[in-house]
Amino acid sequence: MAARAQHELLRFLTCGSVDDGKSTLIGRLLYDSQLIFEDTLAAVARDSRKHGTTGEDIDLALLVDGLEAERQQGITIDVAYRFFATPRRSFIVADTPGHEQYTRNMATGASNASLAVILIDARKGVLTQTRRHSYICSLLGIRDIVVAVNKIDLVNFDEATFERIVGDYVTFAAELGFRSIVPIPISARFGDNVTAKSGNTPWYHGPTLLAHLEGVDVSQDLSAKPFRFPVQWVNRPNLDFRGFAGTIASGTVAPGDQVVVAASGKATRVARIVAAEGDLDRAEAGQAVTLTLADEVDVARGDVLARPAERPAVADQFAAHLLWMDEEPMLPGRGYLMRIGNVWTPCSVTSIRHRVDVNTLEQHAARRLALNEIGFCNFSAGQAVPFDPYEENRATGAFILVDRFTNRTAGAGMIAYPLRRASNIHQEHFTIDKASRAALTGNRPIVLWFTGLSGSGKSTIANIVEQALHRAGRATYALDGDNIRHGLCRDLGFTAEDRVENIRRVGEVAKLMVDAGMIVMCSFISPFRAERRMVRDLLGAGEFVEVFVDTPIEDCIARDPKGLYAKAQAGQIKNFTGIDSPYEPPEAPELHIRTAGRAPEDCAAEVLEKLRAAGVRC
Ligand code: ADX
Repeated sequence: MAARAQHELLRFLTCGSVDDGKSTLIGRLLYDSQLIFEDTLAAVARDSRKHGTTGEDIDLALLVDGLEAERQQGITIDVAYRFFATPRRSFIVADTPGHEQYTRNMATGASNASLAVILIDARKGVLTQTRRHSYICSLLGIRDIVVAVNKIDLVNFDEATFERIVGDYVTFAAELGFRSIVPIPISARFGDNVTAKSGNTPWYHGPTLLAHLEGVDVSQDLSAKPFRFPVQWVNRPNLDFRGFAGTIASGTVAPGDQVVVAASGKATRVARIVAAEGDLDRAEAGQAVTLTLADEVDVARGDVLARPAERPAVADQFAAHLLWMDEEPMLPGRGYLMRIGNVWTPCSVTSIRHRVDVNTLEQHAARRLALNEIGFCNFSAGQAVPFDPYEENRATGAFILVDRFTNRTAGAGMIAYPLRRASNIHQEHFTIDKASRAALTGNRPIVLWFTGLSGSGKSTIANIVEQALHRAGRATYALDGDNIRHGLCRDLGFTAEDRVENIRRVGEVAKLMVDAGMIVMCSFISPFRAERRMVRDLLGAGEFVEVFVDTPIEDCIARDPKGLYAKAQAGQIKNFTGIDSPYEPPEAPELHIRTAGRAPEDCAAEVLEKLRAAGVRC
């Protein structure tokens, strides 16, 4: 066992502030383990004279900061993975940026590392960034820390300085639940205590950094955890073979083992374990295999196989830590796509329980999460998903949130526990349904969603349309921003998060009214495409007709029916759409009405035409 552990691959990351010398340290590790080829070295020597920060010496950071742009900025801007090996162990090191805005890259580097080297500049001590990075490491499940007090040469190899920094760090980190914290005084630039013991620190009796990295036991022993097999795809080459392919996330499996499909609870046994090299009689965490089952049970991509007595949680609501990584803030109620294991599902934050101040670890109330902020939130997913608390299993407790429009990874989540909200509540089915209600009045239930700037004419046009429908005997209702905000939404203002909640509530009401068989006119600025899309998704195909009331802002300002633009321009109203709050025009509305120079009746006629084409009698 010991021999095997020593040859184990160690994934670690380095983190610290911009000038702490991370890249130099990695360069030093590569250089001292003589893994740099001569020609690379010549290029670095040349570049050192051009961009380096070390005068005539070779700037080892340039070995690692590969990108020209980074060299010119003098900072590292992406995660750089380096591979190196000594006779005792192989290493993959993630060099992550220390610059504040690149915290998300650090989280990327930390997510699959098992140890972190936190660099601290001996002259500066524990900084905000040190705390932030340590907290993120702890959140992402890293349990073993090396505190590398770097540039010890610049404080004259002073023991007291080292001890003071170590004391500060240990005090701060007490709450973070690390298993080991190993402090080492080093000079990445001159090599002290990196790969060889330094004669300059006779007071230091611990290992060198490399010796520690070679010897540290960081095994997470995934194989000892409960069996989890997230199905990646169903392999059915012919009628005689049906296998489930994936990578074992944790635990072990053998033919004959009892398993259940986590979500459905359907039980069966493992028949065969098929691998590239033939059938196996046992497989464990990390292995990619295909399982065949003894019975024909329903298993699809995204399902998780587990043992009957050790099942993961299966829930559509849960509490989790969320690290926000997008420029666009996270707003509760907004729809994102969630990927957990091999499942993709719509997902939103229902509430932020608190935001964590990563510098003090204090908890604060928050209504949104901005780039790099971390919150503890309640989530609601579009379907029940299998998972484990992240603390118990990093592989099955982590998820990402993806922005539906940009496809960017916007957040990284670590699940804490399932929520039993709305459980034991079932859908009651009534005999009289939407179709029968609509048939009674001859309606074709539909939502006409008028979006546009304040004063663009949404309500005016909706009013004319409703009168025509009413005359034709149709059952209608008009939901209007100004009116709804006197009742259902009287608690909401005009911040982005309040507008999201406004449209979420109105969307639910419109959906109920469509179910009641009505034609619903909704006039809301609804400035964000994400929420218009959300309402569209709430309704059935063809039930959502988006009408973009496109009036140039100059015309709205000139009309200014409520005098609000004048106030907004005078700074008396904050967050006014078009002035100091954005409007995202629809990209593909069902109807695009350009109102400039036209009478409202004319615009309303266009809407009615569209309704007739959609099968509404009017
Ligand atoms: S929305 O953005 O959440 O969809 P909504 O349509 O409900 O807005 O309400 C917009 C109406 O509120 C405007 O027509 C205007 O009369 C009034 N209003 C007051 N303050 C603002 C503001 N800051 N921005 C936009 N509209 C405002």
